[in-house]
Amino acid sequence: MTATPTRSAVTAPLTAHPLSLLTAEEVSTNREVVDAAGLLGPDTRFVYVGLLEAPKAELLAHADGDPFRRSVASILVDRASGTATSVVVDVTAGAVESTREIDALAEGQGPILDEEFEDIEQILLASEEWIAAMERRGIDPAMVRAVPLSAGNFGDPAEEGRRMCRVLAFLQLDEADLPWAHPIDGVCAYVDLTERTVFAVADNAMMDVPMERGEWNAEPHGAPTRTDLKPIEITQPEGPSFTVTDNLIEWANWRFRFTFDVREGLVLHQLGWKDEAAPGGVRPIVNRASIPEMVVPYGDPAPSRYWINYFDQGEYVFGRYTNSLELGCDCLGEITYIDAVIADERGEPRTLTNAICLHEEDYGVLWKHTDLFNGMAETRRQRRLVISFFLTIGNYDYGFYWYLYLDGTIELEAKATGIVFTSAYTGPDGFATEMAPGLGAPFHQHLFSARLDMAVDGHTNAVDEVDAVRVPVSDVNPHGNAFRQQHTRLRTELEARRQADNLASRTWLVTNPERSNRLGQAVGYALHPEGQPTLLADPSSVIARRGAFGTHHLWVSAHDDSHRWPAGEIVNQSPGTDGLERYVEQDRDIDGADIVLWHTFGLTHFPRPEDWPVMPVDYTGFKLKPVGFFDRNPALDVPAGTTPHCRGRK
Ligand code: CU
Repeated sequence: MTATPTRSAVTAPLTAHPLSLLTAEEVSTNREVVDAAGLLGPDTRFVYVGLLEAPKAELLAHADGDPFRRSVASILVDRASGTATSVVVDVTAGAVESTREIDALAEGQGPILDEEFEDIEQILLASEEWIAAMERRGIDPAMVRAVPLSAGNFGDPAEEGRRMCRVLAFLQLDEADLPWAHPIDGVCAYVDLTERTVFAVADNAMMDVPMERGEWNAEPHGAPTRTDLKPIEITQPEGPSFTVTDNLIEWANWRFRFTFDVREGLVLHQLGWKDEAAPGGVRPIVNRASIPEMVVPYGDPAPSRYWINYFDQGEYVFGRYTNSLELGCDCLGEITYIDAVIADERGEPRTLTNAICLHEEDYGVLWKHTDLFNGMAETRRQRRLVISFFLTIGNYDYGFYWYLYLDGTIELEAKATGIVFTSAYTGPDGFATEMAPGLGAPFHQHLFSARLDMAVDGHTNAVDEVDAVRVPVSDVNPHGNAFRQQHTRLRTELEARRQADNLASRTWLVTNPERSNRLGQAVGYALHPEGQPTLLADPSSVIARRGAFGTHHLWVSAHDDSHRWPAGEIVNQSPGTDGLERYVEQDRDIDGADIVLWHTFGLTHFPRPEDWPVMPVDYTGFKLKPVGFFDRNPALDVPAGTTPHCRGRK
């Protein structure tokens, strides 16, 4: 990094905590400092602006009342040259901390701007080759909706160093028509975003455009709205049981902070379990938790579609498409909404209203028993705290829900809904499901990467792979009924690249070798994977390199503040040399160290006809469950019911 210190008169007002949410004032200050440093030309756009968190050691050492500074990181893209620059501004001092020009060949391109997407249809209309391709198909080019997509990096010399996207086309019959129902398949435009020209048209096949409409209220889908569903109202007459102070949330025994990053989404910080006996009154569990990357690799090898792989965080900075949630529609009950501040492409603050939804939910029975001998009959109800956000990116909509339960369980659930990406259907030997007559939906995966900076009762942690194993018939097992758990310590980073195994009930147990429970067992939290497939693309494929994080369910790395991005810091058109594979290449010791778990989870989506015309929510995620972290069931203190007839039952 080259430090180019410049002082400016502006000083951002201090937030309450080093991890407070990014403020509009800080975003404005960032822009002013960037401008004053001469980094802001007429063609400069801000494609990413976010809080650059202080180093972990500094955050952990911070006590209330200590002075601190705040930094904002930006990625600038110059539209005239295509060059991207990473800038860090100290918004407390009002000074540039560092600038770094991104090397397009070695690293890739800055993320894609909305402004670039908005130009695409005009760029297509200016291309004779494109117009000719549409006319060959008897299609009026003015009725074509262009869908610009991240290009990947396939090593084509004609594409080297070009800031580009690939564009697929859909027909829109009228204003109400849903273009996704009418893919114009077999043709794809390659657009240079800096020259603003189509530099190639891959016109490989003439395919029929499916013509059945796709709006859910149009024939043949439309049905009268049913009238037999009575209202469900959720009320909490005494209000919710949580408190929010700045961005510190306390609920039952849980305490954590949260931030919102436009690239990474919702981030949980310093998540712990309140315990008066613990130093500071909290037992830490996870220092920082987020879903910093995902990739949606498509499995259709057709010449016009083999390249489709979206990295929604790294390439698209997907948090900017966060929905403003509405009470009664998106969320039901006693809801606390929180706004998030991001920057627009001119670097000015933009508020995402009602971006984050916080509430508590009843979750059925927590524990229950009616005893045969002593007559005790007890039920306790489970509830969970939910913090979530939802976004729309192109055809898909994703929700990210973190759940904290009364029994110490932590869960992340990703929800996928919206409209499946479509193609022309080429028959049962192809790589798509027929969704409507002649309309295909190619097979694809949604692979998410969770970054879990673990802190199980402190920062010295270790990971065991825990399997259920059958015991051979022997002197100790003469009847062959025995089975047990097998613990295998993962000692180094390369050893800790692991696959799930549901037949072995495999979990990864994170323990603190320096802390034990009353039984002398090391306190722990176990990661429970769903164990769905990892990346299905061939190991020799480009996506297996660029999305290498998706090739294993588990990675463990020694903590490093700069190791944040599973597919690398720069992802758009990246060659695939940065990210998790690089983070672990030193094969550092992770046995009794400050460690980060990286967990790949997701959906392998073979679309069903029922996913058309709009897809019911599909779910994926993982859980972290306490294993010996507590001395016994930590939810014995939950009162018996809140309605009078449940109280004091015997
Ligand atoms: Cu899908």
